[in-house]
Amino acid sequence: MRSTTLSLLLGAGIASAQISLPSSIFGLPFSPQCQGAVLQVLTNGSFAQCFPTTDLLPLLTSNSSIVPVLDNFMTDFCYNVQPCSNDTLQQAAQTVLAGCASDLAAGRLPNSTVTTAFSIYPLLREVLCLKTIDPYTSESYGGFLGEPPIPINEQTYNSTDGYFCVTSFLTQLTAYFGTNATVPYIASIVSGQNSTALNLLTSINPNILCNECLFGALEVVEAAYPAIGNIELQTIANYAPVVGLPVIQAPNTTINGLFNLTCAYEGLSVSTNGTLPESISVSIVNSTFPYPITDGSATAA
Ligand SMILES: *[C@@H]1O[C@H](CO)[C@@H](O)[C@H](O)[C@H]1NC(C)=O
Ligand SMILES: *[C@@H]1O[C@H](CO)[C@@H](O)[C@H](O)[C@H]1NC(C)=O
Ligand SMILES: *[C@@H]1O[C@H](CO)[C@@H](O)[C@H](O)[C@H]1NC(C)=O
Ligand SMILES: *[C@@H]1O[C@H](CO)[C@@H](O)[C@H](O)[C@H]1NC(C)=O
Ligand SMILES: *[C@@H]1O[C@H](CO)[C@@H](O)[C@H](O)[C@H]1NC(C)=O
Ligand SMILES: *[C@@H]1O[C@H](CO)[C@@H](O)[C@H](O)[C@H]1NC(C)=O
Ligand SMILES: *[C@@H]1O[C@H](CO)[C@@H](O)[C@H](O)[C@H]1NC(C)=O
Ligand SMILES: *[C@@H]1O[C@H](CO)[C@@H](O)[C@H](O)[C@H]1NC(C)=O
Ligand SMILES: *[C@@H]1O[C@H](CO)[C@@H](O)[C@H](O)[C@H]1NC(C)=O
Ligand SMILES: *[C@@H]1O[C@H](CO)[C@@H](O)[C@H](O)[C@H]1NC(C)=O
Ligand SMILES: *[C@@H]1O[C@H](CO)[C@@H](O)[C@H](O)[C@H]1NC(C)=O
Repeated sequence: MRSTTLSLLLGAGIASAQISLPSSIFGLPFSPQCQGAVLQVLTNGSFAQCFPTTDLLPLLTSNSSIVPVLDNFMTDFCYNVQPCSNDTLQQAAQTVLAGCASDLAAGRLPNSTVTTAFSIYPLLREVLCLKTIDPYTSESYGGFLGEPPIPINEQTYNSTDGYFCVTSFLTQLTAYFGTNATVPYIASIVSGQNSTALNLLTSINPNILCNECLFGALEVVEAAYPAIGNIELQTIANYAPVVGLPVIQAPNTTINGLFNLTCAYEGLSVSTNGTLPESISVSIVNSTFPYPITDGSATAA
Protein backbone atom coordinates (compact mmCIF):
# COMPACT_ATOMS: atom_id res chain seq x y z
CA MET A 1 0.00 0.00 0.00
CA ARG A 2 2.73 2.38 1.03
CA SER A 3 4.61 2.01 -2.24
CA THR A 4 1.46 2.65 -4.27
CA THR A 5 0.91 5.85 -2.32
CA LEU A 6 4.51 6.80 -2.92
CA SER A 7 4.31 6.34 -6.65
CA LEU A 8 1.03 8.25 -6.85
CA LEU A 9 2.55 11.07 -4.84
CA LEU A 10 5.68 11.20 -6.92
CA GLY A 11 3.60 11.06 -10.09
CA ALA A 12 1.49 13.94 -8.82
CA GLY A 13 4.58 15.86 -7.76
CA ILE A 14 6.13 15.51 -11.17
CA ALA A 15 2.87 16.38 -12.94
CA SER A 16 2.26 19.50 -10.87
CA ALA A 17 5.83 20.63 -11.29
CA GLN A 18 5.36 19.94 -15.01
CA ILE A 19 8.73 18.33 -15.05
CA SER A 20 9.55 16.14 -17.96
CA LEU A 21 12.68 14.16 -17.34
CA PRO A 22 15.45 15.12 -19.77
CA SER A 23 16.20 12.68 -22.57
CA SER A 24 19.90 13.05 -21.90
CA ILE A 25 22.07 13.92 -18.89
CA PHE A 26 25.55 15.42 -19.44
CA GLY A 27 25.33 14.22 -23.03
CA LEU A 28 24.53 10.65 -21.96
CA PRO A 29 21.28 9.08 -23.15
CA PHE A 30 18.36 8.70 -20.72
CA SER A 31 15.73 6.66 -22.55
CA PRO A 32 12.07 6.25 -21.52
CA GLN A 33 12.74 2.62 -20.41
CA CYS A 34 15.62 3.80 -18.27
CA GLN A 35 13.55 6.65 -16.77
CA GLY A 36 10.79 4.15 -16.04
CA ALA A 37 13.21 1.83 -14.26
CA VAL A 38 14.61 4.65 -12.14
CA LEU A 39 11.14 5.93 -11.22
CA GLN A 40 10.01 2.40 -10.46
CA VAL A 41 12.90 1.93 -8.04
CA LEU A 42 12.37 5.32 -6.38
CA THR A 43 8.61 4.96 -5.98
CA ASN A 44 7.58 1.33 -5.84
CA GLY A 45 9.11 -1.50 -3.89
CA SER A 46 11.49 -2.06 -1.05
CA PHE A 47 14.07 0.58 -2.00
CA ALA A 48 11.41 3.30 -1.85
CA GLN A 49 10.69 2.26 1.73
CA CYS A 50 14.29 2.58 2.93
CA PHE A 51 15.03 5.75 0.96
CA PRO A 52 12.27 8.30 1.73
CA THR A 53 11.93 9.82 -1.75
CA THR A 54 8.58 11.43 -0.93
CA ASP A 55 10.31 13.74 1.54
CA LEU A 56 12.24 15.19 -1.39
CA LEU A 57 9.15 15.97 -3.48
CA PRO A 58 8.88 19.61 -2.30
CA LEU A 59 12.18 20.18 -4.11
CA LEU A 60 10.32 19.67 -7.39
CA THR A 61 7.55 22.13 -6.71
CA SER A 62 8.63 24.81 -4.27
CA ASN A 63 10.67 27.96 -4.59
CA SER A 64 11.68 27.96 -0.95
CA SER A 65 14.93 26.94 0.67
CA ILE A 66 16.01 23.34 0.21
CA VAL A 67 17.49 23.21 3.74
CA PRO A 68 14.28 22.48 5.73
CA VAL A 69 13.30 19.89 3.10
CA LEU A 70 16.64 18.11 3.43
CA ASP A 71 16.55 18.31 7.24
CA ASN A 72 13.16 16.61 7.22
CA PHE A 73 14.44 14.00 4.74
CA MET A 74 17.40 13.22 6.99
CA THR A 75 15.21 13.00 10.09
CA ASP A 76 13.29 10.20 8.38
CA PHE A 77 16.36 8.67 6.73
CA CYS A 78 18.40 8.55 9.95
CA TYR A 79 15.76 7.74 12.56
CA ASN A 80 12.48 6.60 11.08
CA VAL A 81 12.97 4.23 8.13
CA GLN A 82 14.44 0.75 8.26
CA PRO A 83 17.76 0.89 6.41
CA CYS A 84 17.96 -0.92 3.05
CA SER A 85 19.23 -4.48 3.19
CA ASN A 86 21.90 -5.68 0.78
CA ASP A 87 19.22 -7.68 -1.06
CA THR A 88 17.10 -4.59 -1.58
CA LEU A 89 20.08 -2.62 -2.89
CA GLN A 90 21.06 -5.45 -5.26
CA GLN A 91 17.51 -5.80 -6.57
CA ALA A 92 17.22 -2.05 -7.13
CA ALA A 93 20.51 -2.07 -9.03
CA GLN A 94 19.32 -5.01 -11.16
CA THR A 95 16.05 -3.22 -12.03
CA VAL A 96 17.95 -0.12 -13.15
CA LEU A 97 20.54 -2.21 -15.04
CA ALA A 98 17.82 -4.06 -16.90
CA GLY A 99 15.95 -0.85 -17.83
CA CYS A 100 19.07 1.10 -18.70
CA ALA A 101 21.17 -1.55 -20.46
CA SER A 102 21.05 0.19 -23.86
CA ASP A 103 21.73 3.62 -22.32
CA LEU A 104 24.77 2.30 -20.47
CA ALA A 105 26.05 0.61 -23.60
CA ALA A 106 25.56 3.78 -25.68
CA GLY A 107 27.35 5.84 -23.03
CA ARG A 108 30.11 3.21 -22.72
CA LEU A 109 29.46 3.03 -18.99
CA PRO A 110 30.18 -0.25 -17.17
CA ASN A 111 27.42 -1.93 -15.10
CA SER A 112 29.49 -1.13 -12.02
CA THR A 113 28.43 2.53 -12.39
CA VAL A 114 24.98 1.47 -11.26
CA THR A 115 25.90 -1.25 -8.76
CA THR A 116 28.39 1.09 -7.08
CA ALA A 117 25.81 3.89 -6.89
CA PHE A 118 23.52 1.61 -4.87
CA SER A 119 26.28 -0.03 -2.84
CA ILE A 120 27.35 3.30 -1.31
CA TYR A 121 23.96 3.53 0.43
CA PRO A 122 25.37 2.65 3.91
CA LEU A 123 28.14 5.24 3.44
CA LEU A 124 25.71 7.87 2.18
CA ARG A 125 23.42 7.31 5.17
CA GLU A 126 26.34 7.49 7.61
CA VAL A 127 27.53 10.81 6.11
CA LEU A 128 24.06 12.38 5.94
CA CYS A 129 23.46 11.37 9.58
CA LEU A 130 26.48 13.27 10.89
CA LYS A 131 25.45 15.82 13.50
CA THR A 132 27.25 18.74 15.10
CA ILE A 133 26.75 20.27 18.53
CA ASP A 134 28.35 23.45 17.15
CA PRO A 135 26.01 24.45 14.28
CA TYR A 136 26.32 27.66 12.26
CA THR A 137 25.11 30.83 14.00
CA SER A 138 25.51 34.51 13.16
CA GLU A 139 28.45 34.51 15.63
CA SER A 140 30.35 31.71 13.84
CA TYR A 141 33.65 32.63 12.16
CA GLY A 142 33.91 35.83 14.18
CA GLY A 143 30.48 36.86 12.93
CA PHE A 144 31.63 38.06 9.54
CA LEU A 145 29.24 35.96 7.44
CA GLY A 146 26.36 37.24 9.53
CA GLU A 147 22.77 36.15 10.00
CA PRO A 148 21.57 33.30 7.71
CA PRO A 149 18.19 33.64 5.93
CA ILE A 150 16.83 30.78 8.08
CA PRO A 151 18.53 30.64 11.49
CA ILE A 152 19.15 27.20 13.01
CA ASN A 153 16.94 26.48 15.99
CA GLU A 154 14.96 23.57 17.36
CA GLN A 155 11.65 24.93 16.09
CA THR A 156 12.88 24.69 12.51
CA TYR A 157 15.31 21.78 12.51
CA ASN A 158 15.81 18.42 14.15
CA SER A 159 17.93 18.88 17.28
CA THR A 160 18.46 15.34 18.58
CA ASP A 161 22.23 15.02 19.33
CA GLY A 162 22.78 18.45 17.77
CA TYR A 163 21.97 19.52 14.22
CA PHE A 164 22.61 17.74 10.94
CA CYS A 165 25.97 18.69 9.43
CA VAL A 166 24.28 19.14 6.05
CA THR A 167 21.86 21.64 7.60
CA SER A 168 24.66 23.51 9.38
CA PHE A 169 26.97 23.67 6.37
CA LEU A 170 24.24 24.69 3.91
CA THR A 171 23.06 27.35 6.37
CA GLN A 172 26.62 28.69 6.48
CA LEU A 173 26.64 28.85 2.66
CA THR A 174 23.30 30.70 2.59
CA ALA A 175 24.72 33.25 5.04
CA TYR A 176 27.72 33.70 2.72
CA PHE A 177 25.60 34.00 -0.45
CA GLY A 178 23.04 36.15 1.38
CA THR A 179 20.07 34.28 0.00
CA ASN A 180 17.92 31.19 0.51
CA ALA A 181 19.19 28.08 -1.28
CA THR A 182 16.23 27.51 -3.57
CA VAL A 183 16.34 25.13 -6.53
CA PRO A 184 16.00 27.98 -9.09
CA TYR A 185 18.85 29.86 -7.37
CA ILE A 186 21.14 26.81 -7.40
CA ALA A 187 20.25 26.17 -11.04
CA SER A 188 21.16 29.78 -11.87
CA ILE A 189 24.61 29.31 -10.31
CA VAL A 190 25.24 26.00 -12.05
CA SER A 191 24.22 27.42 -15.43
CA GLY A 192 26.37 30.51 -14.84
CA GLN A 193 23.42 32.93 -15.17
CA ASN A 194 23.98 34.82 -11.90
CA SER A 195 27.33 36.61 -12.14
CA THR A 196 27.09 38.03 -8.61
CA ALA A 197 26.74 34.51 -7.26
CA LEU A 198 29.52 33.20 -9.52
CA ASN A 199 31.88 35.92 -8.24
CA LEU A 200 31.04 34.98 -4.67
CA LEU A 201 31.63 31.32 -5.51
CA THR A 202 35.07 31.86 -7.06
CA SER A 203 36.21 34.18 -4.27
CA ILE A 204 35.23 31.79 -1.49
CA ASN A 205 37.89 31.60 1.24
CA PRO A 206 39.74 28.23 1.32
CA ASN A 207 39.23 28.31 5.10
CA ILE A 208 35.70 27.15 4.37
CA LEU A 209 37.28 23.67 4.50
CA CYS A 210 38.07 24.19 8.19
CA ASN A 211 34.74 22.96 9.44
CA GLU A 212 34.55 19.93 11.74
CA CYS A 213 31.55 18.69 9.75
CA LEU A 214 33.64 18.45 6.56
CA PHE A 215 36.47 16.70 8.43
CA GLY A 216 33.89 14.27 9.85
CA ALA A 217 32.46 13.56 6.40
CA LEU A 218 35.94 13.05 4.96
CA GLU A 219 36.84 10.65 7.76
CA VAL A 220 33.69 8.56 7.23
CA VAL A 221 34.32 8.40 3.48
CA GLU A 222 37.96 7.42 4.05
CA ALA A 223 36.99 4.69 6.52
CA ALA A 224 35.40 2.96 3.52
CA TYR A 225 37.78 4.22 0.81
CA PRO A 226 41.16 5.08 2.43
CA ALA A 227 42.76 5.71 -0.96
CA ILE A 228 40.63 8.82 -1.49
CA GLY A 229 42.71 10.83 1.00
CA ASN A 230 45.86 10.08 -0.99
CA ILE A 231 44.53 11.31 -4.33
CA GLU A 232 46.81 14.04 -5.69
CA LEU A 233 45.03 17.34 -6.31
CA GLN A 234 46.65 17.52 -9.74
CA THR A 235 44.94 14.25 -10.69
CA ILE A 236 41.58 15.91 -9.99
CA ALA A 237 42.63 19.13 -11.70
CA ASN A 238 43.45 17.12 -14.84
CA TYR A 239 39.70 16.56 -15.28
CA ALA A 240 39.06 20.31 -15.65
CA PRO A 241 39.34 20.31 -19.47
CA VAL A 242 36.99 17.29 -19.58
CA VAL A 243 34.18 19.42 -18.10
CA GLY A 244 35.10 22.44 -20.21
CA LEU A 245 37.21 24.37 -17.69
CA PRO A 246 40.68 25.77 -18.42
CA VAL A 247 43.80 23.86 -17.37
CA ILE A 248 44.37 24.26 -13.61
CA GLN A 249 47.72 24.09 -11.84
CA ALA A 250 46.96 22.45 -8.49
CA PRO A 251 49.17 22.61 -5.38
CA ASN A 252 51.49 19.60 -5.09
CA THR A 253 49.64 17.75 -2.35
CA THR A 254 46.90 15.21 -1.69
CA ILE A 255 43.32 15.70 -0.49
CA ASN A 256 44.29 14.96 3.13
CA GLY A 257 47.38 17.15 2.73
CA LEU A 258 45.20 20.06 1.58
CA PHE A 259 42.85 19.72 4.56
CA ASN A 260 45.74 19.33 7.04
CA LEU A 261 47.65 22.28 5.58
CA THR A 262 44.69 24.66 5.21
CA CYS A 263 43.33 23.99 8.67
CA ALA A 264 46.45 23.52 10.79
CA TYR A 265 45.80 27.02 12.20
CA GLU A 266 42.55 25.64 13.66
CA GLY A 267 44.33 22.59 15.08
CA LEU A 268 42.33 20.39 12.72
CA SER A 269 43.82 17.38 10.93
CA VAL A 270 42.33 14.41 9.12
CA SER A 271 42.27 11.50 11.54
CA THR A 272 42.74 8.09 9.99
CA ASN A 273 41.52 6.09 12.99
CA GLY A 274 37.77 6.60 12.55
CA THR A 275 37.51 9.05 15.46
CA LEU A 276 35.33 12.02 14.49
CA PRO A 277 36.19 15.63 15.42
CA GLU A 278 35.12 16.72 18.90
CA SER A 279 31.79 18.38 18.00
CA ILE A 280 30.69 15.63 15.57
CA SER A 281 28.75 12.40 16.04
CA VAL A 282 26.81 9.97 13.87
CA SER A 283 23.18 10.13 14.99
CA ILE A 284 21.53 7.14 13.37
CA VAL A 285 19.29 4.17 14.07
CA ASN A 286 20.51 0.76 12.91
CA SER A 287 23.56 1.82 10.93
CA THR A 288 24.63 -0.65 8.22
CA PHE A 289 28.02 1.02 7.70
CA PRO A 290 30.52 -1.82 8.18
CA TYR A 291 33.50 0.23 9.47
CA PRO A 292 33.98 1.42 13.07
CA ILE A 293 33.35 5.15 13.62
CA THR A 294 33.83 6.75 17.06
CA ASP A 295 31.88 9.87 17.95
CA GLY A 296 34.03 12.89 18.76
CA SER A 297 32.15 13.59 21.96
CA ALA A 298 32.84 10.00 23.09
CA THR A 299 36.54 10.82 23.48
CA ALA A 300 36.13 14.45 24.52
CA ALA A 301 35.21 13.63 28.12
C1 LIG B 1 4.67 -1.60 -8.52
O1 LIG B 1 5.18 -2.95 -8.48
C2 LIG B 1 4.21 -3.93 -8.64
C3 LIG B 1 4.85 -5.30 -8.41
O2 LIG B 1 6.21 -5.28 -8.72
C4 LIG B 1 3.59 -3.82 -10.04
O3 LIG B 1 2.59 -4.80 -10.22
C5 LIG B 1 2.98 -2.42 -10.20
O4 LIG B 1 2.52 -2.25 -11.52
C6 LIG B 1 4.02 -1.35 -9.90
N1 LIG B 1 3.37 -0.05 -9.91
C7 LIG B 1 3.86 1.00 -10.56
C8 LIG B 1 3.09 2.26 -10.49
O5 LIG B 1 4.91 0.93 -11.20
C1 LIG C 1 9.46 30.42 -8.59
O1 LIG C 1 10.10 31.67 -8.80
C2 LIG C 1 10.11 32.07 -10.16
C3 LIG C 1 10.92 33.35 -10.30
O2 LIG C 1 11.41 33.79 -9.08
C4 LIG C 1 8.68 32.25 -10.63
O3 LIG C 1 8.70 32.60 -12.00
C5 LIG C 1 7.94 30.93 -10.46
O4 LIG C 1 6.56 31.11 -10.80
C6 LIG C 1 8.01 30.44 -9.02
N1 LIG C 1 7.40 29.11 -8.93
C7 LIG C 1 6.65 28.72 -7.90
C8 LIG C 1 6.14 27.31 -7.93
O5 LIG C 1 6.40 29.46 -6.96
C1 LIG D 1 16.12 -1.08 14.18
O1 LIG D 1 16.31 -2.48 14.36
C2 LIG D 1 15.40 -3.06 15.28
C3 LIG D 1 15.82 -4.53 15.46
O2 LIG D 1 16.00 -5.13 14.20
C4 LIG D 1 13.98 -2.94 14.74
O3 LIG D 1 13.07 -3.49 15.67
C5 LIG D 1 13.66 -1.47 14.54
O4 LIG D 1 12.40 -1.32 13.91
C6 LIG D 1 14.71 -0.81 13.64
N1 LIG D 1 14.44 0.61 13.58
C7 LIG D 1 14.43 1.26 12.42
C8 LIG D 1 14.08 2.71 12.45
O5 LIG D 1 14.73 0.74 11.37
C1 LIG E 1 26.35 -6.18 2.76
O1 LIG E 1 27.37 -6.04 1.77
C2 LIG E 1 28.58 -5.45 2.25
C3 LIG E 1 29.49 -5.23 1.07
O2 LIG E 1 29.47 -6.29 0.19
C4 LIG E 1 29.18 -6.35 3.32
O3 LIG E 1 30.35 -5.75 3.83
C5 LIG E 1 28.17 -6.52 4.44
O4 LIG E 1 28.68 -7.42 5.40
C6 LIG E 1 26.85 -7.04 3.91
N1 LIG E 1 25.87 -7.00 4.99
C7 LIG E 1 25.11 -8.03 5.29
C8 LIG E 1 24.17 -7.86 6.45
O5 LIG E 1 25.16 -9.06 4.65
C1 LIG F 1 25.02 -5.57 -17.37
O1 LIG F 1 23.70 -5.74 -16.91
C2 LIG F 1 22.81 -6.21 -17.91
C3 LIG F 1 21.41 -6.20 -17.31
O2 LIG F 1 21.37 -6.86 -16.07
C4 LIG F 1 23.25 -7.61 -18.33
O3 LIG F 1 22.40 -8.07 -19.36
C5 LIG F 1 24.68 -7.54 -18.84
O4 LIG F 1 25.14 -8.84 -19.13
C6 LIG F 1 25.59 -6.94 -17.80
N1 LIG F 1 26.90 -6.74 -18.35
C7 LIG F 1 27.98 -7.20 -17.73
C8 LIG F 1 29.28 -6.91 -18.40
O5 LIG F 1 27.93 -7.80 -16.65
C1 LIG G 1 14.13 32.59 3.28
O1 LIG G 1 13.09 31.66 3.52
C2 LIG G 1 12.41 31.90 4.74
C3 LIG G 1 11.46 30.75 4.97
O2 LIG G 1 10.95 30.27 3.78
C4 LIG G 1 11.72 33.25 4.67
O3 LIG G 1 11.03 33.49 5.89
C5 LIG G 1 12.77 34.33 4.44
O4 LIG G 1 12.14 35.58 4.26
C6 LIG G 1 13.60 34.01 3.22
N1 LIG G 1 14.71 34.95 3.17
C7 LIG G 1 15.15 35.52 2.06
C8 LIG G 1 16.32 36.45 2.18
O5 LIG G 1 14.64 35.29 0.98
C1 LIG H 1 14.15 14.72 15.63
O1 LIG H 1 14.22 13.33 15.42
C2 LIG H 1 13.86 12.55 16.55
C3 LIG H 1 14.03 11.10 16.19
O2 LIG H 1 13.16 10.76 15.15
C4 LIG H 1 12.42 12.84 16.95
O3 LIG H 1 12.12 12.15 18.14
C5 LIG H 1 12.25 14.33 17.16
O4 LIG H 1 10.90 14.63 17.40
C6 LIG H 1 12.73 15.09 15.94
N1 LIG H 1 12.60 16.51 16.18
C7 LIG H 1 12.07 17.33 15.30
C8 LIG H 1 12.02 18.77 15.69
O5 LIG H 1 11.67 16.94 14.21
C1 LIG I 1 22.12 36.35 -7.65
O1 LIG I 1 22.98 36.03 -6.57
C2 LIG I 1 22.95 37.00 -5.53
C3 LIG I 1 24.02 36.63 -4.50
O2 LIG I 1 23.76 35.39 -3.92
C4 LIG I 1 21.55 37.06 -4.93
O3 LIG I 1 21.52 38.03 -3.90
C5 LIG I 1 20.56 37.41 -6.03
O4 LIG I 1 19.24 37.36 -5.51
C6 LIG I 1 20.67 36.43 -7.18
N1 LIG I 1 19.81 36.86 -8.28
C7 LIG I 1 18.90 36.06 -8.79
C8 LIG I 1 18.09 36.63 -9.92
O5 LIG I 1 18.69 34.92 -8.38
C1 LIG J 1 55.54 16.89 -5.04
O1 LIG J 1 55.85 16.55 -3.69
C2 LIG J 1 56.51 15.31 -3.57
C3 LIG J 1 56.61 14.95 -2.08
O2 LIG J 1 56.68 16.08 -1.28
C4 LIG J 1 57.87 15.39 -4.25
O3 LIG J 1 58.55 14.15 -4.14
C5 LIG J 1 57.66 15.74 -5.71
O4 LIG J 1 58.92 15.93 -6.35
C6 LIG J 1 56.84 17.01 -5.86
N1 LIG J 1 56.51 17.19 -7.27
C7 LIG J 1 56.61 18.38 -7.88
C8 LIG J 1 56.22 18.42 -9.33
O5 LIG J 1 56.98 19.38 -7.29
C1 LIG K 1 47.18 14.72 8.33
O1 LIG K 1 47.32 14.82 9.74
C2 LIG K 1 47.15 13.58 10.43
C3 LIG K 1 47.18 13.83 11.92
O2 LIG K 1 48.33 14.57 12.26
C4 LIG K 1 48.26 12.62 10.00
O3 LIG K 1 48.06 11.37 10.62
C5 LIG K 1 48.21 12.45 8.48
O4 LIG K 1 49.31 11.66 8.07
C6 LIG K 1 48.28 13.80 7.79
N1 LIG K 1 48.11 13.55 6.36
C7 LIG K 1 48.74 14.25 5.45
C8 LIG K 1 48.59 13.83 4.03
O5 LIG K 1 49.44 15.20 5.73
C1 LIG L 1 42.75 9.30 16.52
O1 LIG L 1 43.63 10.26 15.91
C2 LIG L 1 43.54 11.56 16.43
C3 LIG L 1 44.50 12.45 15.65
O2 LIG L 1 44.23 12.38 14.30
C4 LIG L 1 43.89 11.54 17.93
O3 LIG L 1 43.70 12.84 18.46
C5 LIG L 1 42.99 10.57 18.66
O4 LIG L 1 43.41 10.47 20.00
C6 LIG L 1 43.04 9.20 18.02
N1 LIG L 1 42.05 8.36 18.67
C7 LIG L 1 42.29 7.10 19.00
C8 LIG L 1 41.16 6.36 19.66
O5 LIG L 1 43.35 6.57 18.77
